[in-house]
This record gives sequence, structure tokens and C-alpha cells, in this order.
Amino acid sequence: VLVTLWSVKGGSGTSTVAAGLAVVAAGASSPSRGSTLLVDLAGDQPALLGLARPTSPGALDWLAAEHGDADALRRLELAPEHGLALVPRGEALAWAPDRPARLVELLAVEDRTVVVDGGTLADRTASSSAGAELVRALAGVGPSLLVVRPCYLALRRVVALRSEPDAPLRPDGVVLVVEPGRALDATDVARAVGVPVRATVAVDPVVARAVDAGLLTSRVPRPFGRALSGLLSEIGA
Ligand SMILES: Nc1ncnc2c1ncn2[C@@H]1O[C@H](COP(=O)(O)OP(=O)(O)OP(=O)(O)O)[C@@H](O)[C@H]1O
Ligand SMILES: [Mg+2]
Repeated sequence: VLVTLWSVKGGSGTSTVAAGLAVVAAGASSPSRGSTLLVDLAGDQPALLGLARPTSPGALDWLAAEHGDADALRRLELAPEHGLALVPRGEALAWAPDRPARLVELLAVEDRTVVVDGGTLADRTASSSAGAELVRALAGVGPSLLVVRPCYLALRRVVALRSEPDAPLRPDGVVLVVEPGRALDATDVARAVGVPVRATVAVDPVVARAVDAGLLTSRVPRPFGRALSGLLSEIGA
């Protein structure tokens, strides 16, 4: 399974959910699960996994190169812990033509569970950006999940993205990051986005502290881990 997580507003919790999902899938808590590849297109994953800032090339550098194939992609991998490999984002700004399609092809035939942190596709113009292009292509291979809080401003952006005429960015499901005190609930979000809520993750100070300490991988907080295990079953990983 290849699952792509993305958002329409910064700070939604996309990278935290992606890291948690990859760790849970890799079996940090249950060794019977298979190994996992986490592909970071957003840049925060090394810090989330408690790693130093990578000095080696990453996904964007692979996308910028004219050549380099599956082996070159594999050489990008960092191995923070058993069962989990990370392709860091890298630094290159311009991508070579056809490379995003090639990346999608290679990830599509991976044996491992692949989790992609697609980052924030911020506004209407984002739907024609390179990042959106890649997220759209990845969505053709596996579930594409929008990470969103029950926030009116975020939902307006989703609706704007959806109503664009050419190849709108439409997720297969929503990961709802719920905070206390919001007026909108899961039903409102599902209705606005037009797809089901596949998982609900609570904003939990224990999760925030684990992120800040770079300890998310070593002990996934219980309720967070349960929500993510449920999500893995939902998407058949
Ligand atoms: N479930 C959660 N409980 C508590 N805090 C959370 C949770 N998820 C994320 N956070 C906190 O919210 C902030 C934003 O999270 P994160 O970086 O994952 O969001 P993002 O959508 O990836 O943001 P960006 O747009 O910057 O990439 C961080 O401070 C993180 O610690
Ligand atoms: Mg992020």
C-alpha cells in the first residue's frame, strides 16, 4: 500500500500523522508488521524521527537528476530504526521532466508499505504546482488522505481546490485532527470535503511533547497509536 498524506493549511498535523503512521506500520509496537518506507516531500520528517539534519541527498535531488533509478532511490534511504526507512526531502528546487512519473512508478511496485508526507498544498494556485502534480500522481496508486482540522478556513480551501475545472485534487478520505472547542464536527467535515473521515486523531499534549522531544518513534502515545492502527486497517496496509 502507498498512502499519501497532504493538507491545505500549514500546521494541520500532516507530518506528525505521517511519521506516526510510518512508525506504527513499521511495527515499533508490533514486530509482526512489515517494513515501511517513509518518503518526505515536506522536510520535517528527520526532526520528527529524532534524526540530525541529513547531509545526504533526498527525494527532491533524485527528482532533479536526469538519471538515476531504483538503486539511486534506494541509496537515499536513511534507516532510523529497524523496519523503518526514510527518504529525506532533499534540497533541489527544479525537477526534471518525467521524473515525478518515474518516482511514482517505482514507489508503486514497492513491497513495503509506503507513507508519503506530501506537505501543504496551500491554495487554489497550488493545484497546478509541482507538489500537487506529484500528489495527484501518487493518488492514482494508493489512498490519498487529506489531513485537516475542523477549521472553516481550511475547509474553504478544500472546496476551492475541488471546484477547479482541470484535474481537481480530491482525496479518498480525511484524517481529522480534532481540537476541543471547535464548532464543526466530523460530519460537517465529511460533507464539506465530500469524502469519508477515515480516522480521527485527537490533539493531545502527549503527542505534542513527543514531537518536540523527537521521541515519537520510540514511544507512540497510546490513543494516537490506536487511531493510526485503525487507519492502517482502513486502508488495507
Ligand atoms: N495529534 C497531535 N496532538 C498534539 N499536537 C500535535 C498533533 N499533531 C500535530 N501536533 C503539533 O502541531 C504542530 C504542527 O504539526 P505538523 O508539523 O505535523 O503539521 P503539518 O501539517 O505537517 O505542518 P506544516 O504545514 O508546517 O508541514 C506541531 O507543533 C505538532 O507538534
Ligand atoms: Mg509538515
